[in-house]
Amino acid sequence: MDRVYIFDTTLRDGDQTPGVSFTLEQKLEIAKLLEEMKVDIIEAGFAAASEGEFNTVKTIAKEIKNSVVATLCRTVPKDIDLGWEAVKYALNPRIHVFISTSDIHLQYMMKKTREEVLEITENMVKYAKKYCSDVEFSAQDATRSDLNFLLKVIKVAVDSGATTVNIPDTVGYITPAEYYDIISKVKEVIQDKAIISVHCHDDLGMAVANSLYALKAGARQVEGTINGIGERAGNTALEEVIMAIKVRKDYYNLYTNIDTTKIYKVSQTVSTYSGIPIPPNKAIVGLNAFRHQSGVHQHGVVSNRLNYEIIDPKDIGLERGGILVLNKNSGRHGLFAKLRELGYEVPYNLMENIFIEFKKLADIKGEIKDPDLIDLMKKFDIKSKS
Ligand code: KIV
Ligand code: ZN
Repeated sequence: MDRVYIFDTTLRDGDQTPGVSFTLEQKLEIAKLLEEMKVDIIEAGFAAASEGEFNTVKTIAKEIKNSVVATLCRTVPKDIDLGWEAVKYALNPRIHVFISTSDIHLQYMMKKTREEVLEITENMVKYAKKYCSDVEFSAQDATRSDLNFLLKVIKVAVDSGATTVNIPDTVGYITPAEYYDIISKVKEVIQDKAIISVHCHDDLGMAVANSLYALKAGARQVEGTINGIGERAGNTALEEVIMAIKVRKDYYNLYTNIDTTKIYKVSQTVSTYSGIPIPPNKAIVGLNAFRHQSGVHQHGVVSNRLNYEIIDPKDIGLERGGILVLNKNSGRHGLFAKLRELGYEVPYNLMENIFIEFKKLADIKGEIKDPDLIDLMKKFDIKSKS
């Protein structure tokens, strides 16, 4: 099985989420949680963005010992100088440089020719390489670039010393099959001379699918953020990619070094500090990810969790097992399993009447919570043993 490197950019691309701006203390706490989770590379920020950001990257670089610490830089000497000044304190520093390769960006944003982009790529990767052996190169808007030109740029970056080449779907435009083809072509050109990285945005809701498909084509680094926060519709949700690789190792034949039991805590922390709530139906970390409501599903889960759960909640750091949500859709198995959890042994001859009362109550109240069940048991004069 091949290893997939996990590159977390919660503190850089995640910090670009509209309305989000982490403080130094918040970033440091998140970085430490990511390190505990054994994330391979932590992108700490964009050192040249401001004095505060520079200090934050520097502080994280000093504190983090077990993950590579990266900083993003435009392909200009001033950014690379500042980036290195901030990140050089890390035990394992990385300089991450980027330039756009799509004609749209070249014409309307950068006002540069393709020849100029090739020249800048060569010069700036070599410039970064003088400081740091670990240099990542990103071709911004790669997926809307002319493929032959993109391949030329990537080859120049690798020949100039880039150890990782990133093929971002900057605007969330690509589809899984198209991304597979692009990554396969990149792999043909650079072979094993550098690690191929993928970085996807979620504008069309395909960031995770695109990232996973790219792994099939030979990418071995995935970039993303916790809870999928980031510019516009966000980035690849790393917890989803990590768990997909783990749960479907039979299909991907890959592994990561991540301690998945740390996922829940880091997800909650990022949600709190970013102020971005986690949707209840969010994969892996949403409130409902391990809750079961319908009678059929509750029956299945009570008999054996595997009937309706492909992930053990403990694998993401949730101590509790699957949760039964009681309402009008619930059946006898769910109701009596929940009552047993609360310490009630319901005599067989009362079960039907209790079930009828429960359904009446559910029609009126919607969700039936523990205090409602306790009241119901009082009505039938049944005491809890716990
Ligand atoms: O989305 C993107 O293209 C980026 C790069 C700068 C890596 O965030
Ligand atoms: Zn991005």
